[in-house]
Amino acid sequence: MDHNSTSNKLLPVHKRFDLIFKKGKGVYLYTKNSKYLDFGAGIAVNALGHCNPKMVKAITRQAKKLWHVSNIYNTSELNNYADKLVKHSEFADFVFFCNSGAESIECAIKMIRRHFFIKGQPHKNRIITFKGAFHGRTIATISAASKPKYLEGFEPKLDGFDNVEFGNIDEVKKAINENTAGILIEPIQGEEGIRVSSKEFIKSLRKLCDEKELLLAFDEVQCGMGRTGKLFAHEFYETKPDIVSTAKAIAGGFPLGACLATKNASDGMTFGVHGTTYGGNPLAMAVADSVLEVMLKKNFLRNVCETGLFLKNTLIEIKNNFPNIIDEVRGEGLMLGIKINEKIENNQIVKKFIEHKFLTIPAGENVIRILPPLIIKKKHVKEARRKITSALNELNLN
Ligand SMILES: Cc1ncc(COP(=O)(O)O)c(C=O)c1O
Repeated sequence: MDHNSTSNKLLPVHKRFDLIFKKGKGVYLYTKNSKYLDFGAGIAVNALGHCNPKMVKAITRQAKKLWHVSNIYNTSELNNYADKLVKHSEFADFVFFCNSGAESIECAIKMIRRHFFIKGQPHKNRIITFKGAFHGRTIATISAASKPKYLEGFEPKLDGFDNVEFGNIDEVKKAINENTAGILIEPIQGEEGIRVSSKEFIKSLRKLCDEKELLLAFDEVQCGMGRTGKLFAHEFYETKPDIVSTAKAIAGGFPLGACLATKNASDGMTFGVHGTTYGGNPLAMAVADSVLEVMLKKNFLRNVCETGLFLKNTLIEIKNNFPNIIDEVRGEGLMLGIKINEKIENNQIVKKFIEHKFLTIPAGENVIRILPPLIIKKKHVKEARRKITSALNELNLN
């Protein structure tokens, strides 16, 4: 049966726009009658656009060969992709595969605690985290981020996190005590409204971790895998972390998460202490490998930087044309946001954009996230400019 509305059998935890997509191709999504320019990419997931031919080929070929074996066996897809991802991470020695962003953060948290446990310092189990961060929806990840709205009704909160002001190195220093084990940071906060850490702040966190012998973990679930114009966000920050959690774009729409770590940071993660049924599944590995191959091509990341800059400048032009609607343009690479004036709710504009067949993602601080597939070209930016301009013109008239 072809459903044309939201099923009332779905747990109503998601609020869905009244759009039923039937197919996707490149940077476009299609309902039965309309074509939408997708500048949300499934919240930074569809890095290579929709139904990328290389990914379709990879998954189809793998689907005919082997879907799943337990992690008590080997597959060449798993081993090949692990070697390749670790090599290109430029800092890690090991990787653990899972199925989502939250799981990759769970692994990072467990790894930090376990590192000090096997060093005979089990009291060192607290992690410094930052206000405004989003790390997922499991009990551990909502506790880590400590956002009251996401914790409401789910207490008791998991202990072990000290949540401090984002970007404030003095607060971080103050929060460190004899029980501190590490720092977990989302270097560019996506969900909270594209809040970009300065390079100086990230580098001072690294320095502090070195001085105090703490582990530094990056949540690159949203800002990683090409979004900043570098394969990993830590490269953008010219800083080597001890642990990186990533997901979303890594397999361009196939569920996959990864936790990468140095030998030192992961030394407690020995046989039997952690695991997963699906993580590293050959289907996921085959798709992720096809994504990585494309991202490693000579011009791919350069396109992210160049088109990202063109898009940012275009958004700044639009802001200057609509100073009463847009207060600020934020972000790096193709992880951008427009902060909407407090007189108007961001959702109202997201809906107006939808009327103009243009998809974006609302975020905190009244920001609208602009997270297009990383394959966009200047012509798509120009198309976006036309759509945004006509949508905002209508708002201005009303
Ligand atoms: C920075 C960040 N971390 C973690 C997550 C959780 O990822 P998932 O929804 O795949 O569990 C998200 C999801 O939006 C995210 O943006």
